[in-house]
This record gives sequence, C-alpha cells and structure tokens, in this order.
Amino acid sequence: MKVEDLICLGNKVIHKDQVKLLLGTILDMNPLEINLHLNDLVPDNLVIKYKDCLNCLKDGEPLQYALKSVNFYGIDYYVDKRVLIPRFETEELVLNVHKYIEKYFKEPSLLDLGTGSGCIGLTLKKLNPTLDVTLSDISKEALEVASINKENLGLSVNIIESDLFMNINKKFDVLVSNPPYVAYDDEIDKKVLENEPHTALFADNNGLEYYERILKDCCKYLNDKYLIALEIGAYQKDRVLELINKYLKDVKIIDKKDLSNRDRMIFIFKNIDLNE
Ligand SMILES: C[S@@+](CC[C@H](N)C(=O)[O-])C[C@H]1O[C@@H](n2cnc3c(N)ncnc32)[C@H](O)[C@@H]1O
Repeated sequence: MKVEDLICLGNKVIHKDQVKLLLGTILDMNPLEINLHLNDLVPDNLVIKYKDCLNCLKDGEPLQYALKSVNFYGIDYYVDKRVLIPRFETEELVLNVHKYIEKYFKEPSLLDLGTGSGCIGLTLKKLNPTLDVTLSDISKEALEVASINKENLGLSVNIIESDLFMNINKKFDVLVSNPPYVAYDDEIDKKVLENEPHTALFADNNGLEYYERILKDCCKYLNDKYLIALEIGAYQKDRVLELINKYLKDVKIIDKKDLSNRDRMIFIFKNIDLNE
C-alpha cells in the first residue's frame, strides 16, 4: 500500500493529527514530511504494524501503548499496559535532579522508588554514567518493562522488587520518587482510568499515602547528606510540606512548578549548602 492509502485508512478511524503522528513513528519520518512521500510504497510488515495500531487506537488505547514506545527526555522507552506512560512533568523532575546531582554530589547512589518503566532512574543513569542506580517497584510486571528498557539502553543498574523500602538493604545519597498520588475520588481522564495500571495511579489518604510512608521511613535508607526529589499532584504541595515537617528535621526544601505553572515537584536537601 502507498502512504496516501494508509492516511485514508487512518482518517476513518482516528483524528488526522494522530494519523500523521502514528505514521511518522512507524515510518521513522517527521510527521511534517509525510506529505512529501504520499506515493511511496510501504513495506508489508509496516502496513501490518500500522493496522494493528489503528485497531488498538479504535478501542481507545493510548497511542504510546499502541506503538509500544514513548519518547522521554529524548530517549525511546518501551511501554505497554504493565506501566504508567511517562509524563512530560516527570521530565522536568529528572532535569532538576540531574542539575542538583551535578552541583552537590560526586558519583552518588540513587534509588528510584516506584520506577515503573524505569524512565527516571535510567534517564539519570544515561545522563550521568557514574551514578550507582537502583530501580525498585512493587509490581513484578512493571519491573519486567524496566528490565527491557535497561537492556535496550545498555545501562547497568540494579533492579529490586520491593514494597517501598521493604527489600531495600542499603543507604542512598539520592531518593527520587513519582509515587501513585491520585485520590480515589479525584476526577481522572477516562482513557487513563481504563488503560493505565491502577497500582501506578491511586493512593489512600487522599492521595498522600505513599508520601507519608516514604517520608516516615526514608532516613533509614539515606546517608547523612541527601537529596529527596518527589513528584506531587498539582494540589498536594501544602499537605506534602506538612508531612515533610512532621517527619524530617533540619532539612531545606525547594518546591517547583512545572511548565504549566502547577506545583509539581518538591526537593528536600539534608546537609547540603544550597549557596555553594
Ligand atoms: C506514578 S507511577 C510512576 C512510574 C514511573 N516512575 C514514572 O514516573 O513514569 C508509580 C509507580 O509506583 C509503583 N508502586 C505502587 N505502589 C508501590 C509500593 N508500595 N512500593 C513500590 N512501588 C509501588 C507502581 O507500580 C508504579 O510503577
């Protein structure tokens, strides 16, 4: 089939912008260039892949699951229904953690708690190969996906199945987590609710369960000098700050907004001079 035939087929099923995005990914072509290739013949294996993806999208599956791929921080990650699809705001968390590590640590150890696809810990390892990275998650299935990404990227990291700190038996310099934080009565996009793993989304105690558990126990798993980086839900900043003040002493805190101007990240520093 020709590219233009595939476009016609796609337009009957999904929005035309999605058609170009899908075709661009499958043909490894910038979506803006597709119109220059309307008469190109597409190999049969790619036509089959395209039709499979269209069927998934027709059933309401997110594009990233249909493609089994997402670009995070300029890196292609394998994703499927076993893991949360990495989000843009998490790239901002990674950007800041990378910056703080470069500034305040030398060859630190880092724990990515609730790693899912591995996107946080693996990206940081790729950015800074001297990092000693451990990825952990309660979900065996999520860790299978993280292992695929570890292999695909050729990175050397430890992977541990653990209910938060349960099976963690060493101390770290940096703890990063984007834990589940959606409250059970929060309004949530139907596509997310129906497709993404609920263990990656929901948390008790109004979405605060994991922040409280992490902050309560983290000191046993952190060195004297540490950085904790947390992604938070857009309306959770004040309540997470209360938990930090309840469980951690003598720390400095920086909270940051994402590009959409929502409070989305908290960084906690212990024994680090931020004026350095
Ligand atoms: C919001 S997702 C984040 C995934 C990934 N880090 C990201 O940013 O895209 C939360 C992750 O926490 C994991 N998780 C849920 N409960 C957990 C627990 N008790 N201990 C460890 N991980 C847990 C989920 O399986 C899921 O992978």
